[in-house]
Amino acid sequence: MNTRRKFLQQTLLGGLAVGSADRLFDTLDLDDSKAPGTFPVVISTWGPNVKANAAAWKVLSAGGYALDAIEAGIHVPEADPEDTSVGYGGLPDRDGHVTLDACIMNEKGMAGCVTFLEHIKHPISVARKVMENTPHVIMSGDGALQFALSQGFEKEDLLTEHARKAWEAWKVESKYQPVINVERHDTIGMLAMDTQHRLCGGCSTSGLAFKMHGRVGDSPVIGAGLFVDNEVGAAVCTGLGEMVLRTVGSFLVVEEMRRGKHPQKAVETAVKRIVSKYPEQSKDAQVAFIALDRKGRHGAYSIHPGFNYVLYQNGENRVIEGASFLKT
Ligand code: GLY
Repeated sequence: MNTRRKFLQQTLLGGLAVGSADRLFDTLDLDDSKAPGTFPVVISTWGPNVKANAAAWKVLSAGGYALDAIEAGIHVPEADPEDTSVGYGGLPDRDGHVTLDACIMNEKGMAGCVTFLEHIKHPISVARKVMENTPHVIMSGDGALQFALSQGFEKEDLLTEHARKAWEAWKVESKYQPVINVERHDTIGMLAMDTQHRLCGGCSTSGLAFKMHGRVGDSPVIGAGLFVDNEVGAAVCTGLGEMVLRTVGSFLVVEEMRRGKHPQKAVETAVKRIVSKYPEQSKDAQVAFIALDRKGRHGAYSIHPGFNYVLYQNGENRVIEGASFLKT
């Protein structure tokens, strides 16, 4: 059966009956007695973030604060010129500007976000400063840059030679078409719970490559790209932000957990919501969620195959292939 027919069939089934749609889902082993969560724990989107997870674990395993772990972990891809989706080395917008989005949220429900930020290598740290040193939640564009400079951050050129060449090549056709799982990395989303059971999360991205100048995605928007409720759990996502913004995806995942769902079932609900609302767009776009609940149990799910994530728990840092709504 061709992919389009298969997709429509799955979508139709998903739309018609929740009972039968549930059977379409690949689920993790949901028996808690077999797979109890342990602390500390950290989970990140995408396999290459195994190094980010290791940096976060270093903080967590020393008894440190989950928020410090998140910041240390996300610093890894932000500083990596080889990672073209986050921070330094991120692919620019169509005008050649590297513009960054990030947010962070702590166990007290406090949050800080930066959007459309240029020239600062570690937007996750600026987001943390917004949370800790201002009465605001979101700072954007030049205002966010001025704030960062006032906090001691250094202004840098974030456009690497590799990213500049990719942009020059893109300009030949100027065809805007985000590609699914192109390098099997994208936005880093990270959730961590420390030994004191403090649950925190963050995410950081350069957004879609060759986006319109000024475009902001889901990643710096609390409830869409990230949501943390220490009493329940946390969720974060990666993929085409427009679909997540319109469905307030991460908030939905946490609310599903609040209603008693296992994190795996909760992320499946959020993906299914996107697919049922936007069946046409879902054919060509990837979105993936990861979630962690207060019990240390996790879930991961995407629209298309190809999404993987990294879980550091019980002293082991593992890259795990996520299940997906579509099978091919
Ligand atoms: N999820 C990242 C973005 O859409 O910008």
